[in-house]
Amino acid sequence: MILRSQLIGCGSYLPARLVTNAELAEKVETSDEWIVERSGIRQRFIAAEGEKTSDLATAAANRALEAAGISGSAVDLLIVATATPDHTFPATATRVQHRIGMKHGAAFDIQAVCSGFIYALSIADNFIKSGQVQTALVIGAETFSRILDWKDRTTCVLFGDGAGAVVLRANRCKGTSQDRGILSTHLHSDGQHHDLLYVDGGPSSGQTVGFLRMEGREVFRHAVINLAAVVGEALAANDLSASDIDWVVPHQANRRIIEGTAKKLGFPLERMVVTVERHANTSAASIPLALTEAVTDGRIKPGQLVLLEAMGGGFTWGSALVRM
Ligand code: ACO
Repeated sequence: MILRSQLIGCGSYLPARLVTNAELAEKVETSDEWIVERSGIRQRFIAAEGEKTSDLATAAANRALEAAGISGSAVDLLIVATATPDHTFPATATRVQHRIGMKHGAAFDIQAVCSGFIYALSIADNFIKSGQVQTALVIGAETFSRILDWKDRTTCVLFGDGAGAVVLRANRCKGTSQDRGILSTHLHSDGQHHDLLYVDGGPSSGQTVGFLRMEGREVFRHAVINLAAVVGEALAANDLSASDIDWVVPHQANRRIIEGTAKKLGFPLERMVVTVERHANTSAASIPLALTEAVTDGRIKPGQLVLLEAMGGGFTWGSALVRM
């Protein structure tokens, strides 16, 4: 018998304020047509003034706990993946911990930008597999609107705010590919590409608040290559082919990246969960947001095989294969 991390509930939260491409076109020189053609994005949600990453994270966490049928006090480990924490310290996770009524265990943040949720899931999975914790809450939450240069049309049209969360619980099983839970995770990073996607500020850089800077074309090129590689790696490690996967839930950065990856791997687009047109790129929140949507509307069913994949600043990239 082995321990596997079973996904027993998920939930998400989007801020109330919806901003369309047309509204953005009133602020910067852009158009709905350009944004849709280059990225697939039609709208995004933006946090209200004073609404923090911890607020979004707590709302998503409460919904995930409700779906799992457990209370916050049952959680042993809480990880928030975010590149936009409330404060430099303490961790946003400790604020969420307090607000969900979790009084024991450990809570911390993890920073891998758009790959953050996969990184957090992998860490929680290892804690569960080692027997150190029984129940983990993994959250991806971002307020990227706070680090966007709203005068830079090449970046400000691409991102949005939101949060998603999953509850994992130790499942003692035989360890076959049919047993529910996380079958594998794979993480990668390559620091040489720092300057292609970064924020030009931070506590030790002499300027505490910075803006997101990106060489979009170069990021795009690396994304398709790295995502195809990491999906191939997950399939090979589990002795599977693309046709064995019921659903792919990719990081939602750009519709063309999702289509490019699907084509490269021979995945039909109908089996990719795509939300980027409505949510834009919500960084670490994008996968749990998309996953929650597909679970809630009944597309993803218990027992199905779901592959999660992401790539983000650093560069970082990774995958997680889950038997739901
Ligand atoms: N509206 C109108 N025109 C624009 C806009 C805009 N919002 N932004 C750029 N343009 C112009 C450019 O100035 C350029 O004009 P020029 O030809 O006169 O110089 C032209 O459009 C083409 O610009 P490109 O940057 O070459 O356009 P491209 O087809 O590469 O699309 C995009 C840009 C959408 C950013 C694309 O490169 C992309 O999606 N890259 C990946 C970005 C990404 O996914 N990042 C996140 C991944 S990691 C993470 O999630 C943190």
